[in-house]
Amino acid sequence: MMSQIRVKNPKDIRRERPARGHGCWDHLVAAPLWPLHGVNLGTLLRTCDAVGACMAVPKYPWVPEAIERSYTFPHRGCVHWSGNQLRWLQRQAEAPGTRVVGVELADEAVRLADLPPAKGRTVMVLGHEQTGIPPEAVEYLDMAIEIPMVGAGTTLNVAVAGSLVLYKLAGLL
Ligand SMILES: C[S@@+](CC[C@H](N)C(=O)[O-])C[C@H]1O[C@@H](n2cnc3c(N)ncnc32)[C@H](O)[C@@H]1O
Repeated sequence: MMSQIRVKNPKDIRRERPARGHGCWDHLVAAPLWPLHGVNLGTLLRTCDAVGACMAVPKYPWVPEAIERSYTFPHRGCVHWSGNQLRWLQRQAEAPGTRVVGVELADEAVRLADLPPAKGRTVMVLGHEQTGIPPEAVEYLDMAIEIPMVGAGTTLNVAVAGSLVLYKLAGLL
């Protein structure tokens, strides 16, 4: 039997996309604030583009070039430089109408399946690739989200974890 599935071509895909670009800062911000591997920043920025989010990251000397190398779209991704991570997080936590959510394995965390789409401006904080979200940053989080795992590994790759949560917050999953 012949399959009825027709795979879309790039022209179909472009036609289906909304004409308007995203409104900077008005909705979702992914914040990998303690980056270690540049390739994860490129992967995460690609998901940000897909869901209409911005990415906030500290401008470590290696970061701009790492993003340039690992983010392979011809159009620019929406990157904002955070500067000092704790000061930036404090400003986000104090901004009216903003919710700061940490993606982390935590006792009080909400499981990903129970996470509703974001209603207002939401900052999604990701942890250091080896040590997680530092304790001094945890106090700025309104809530934590955990992605359940059943395998032997203790954690997911940070860009994978961030992408799953971004899709859920964007209401696209
Ligand atoms: C590789 S993990 C950090 C290492 C981990 N905290 C440790 O000490 O073994 C990097 C980041 O990915 C995110 N992450 C990975 N797996 C996750 C999961 N199952 N649920 C929620 N966040 C996760 C968190 O933001 C975490 O800080």
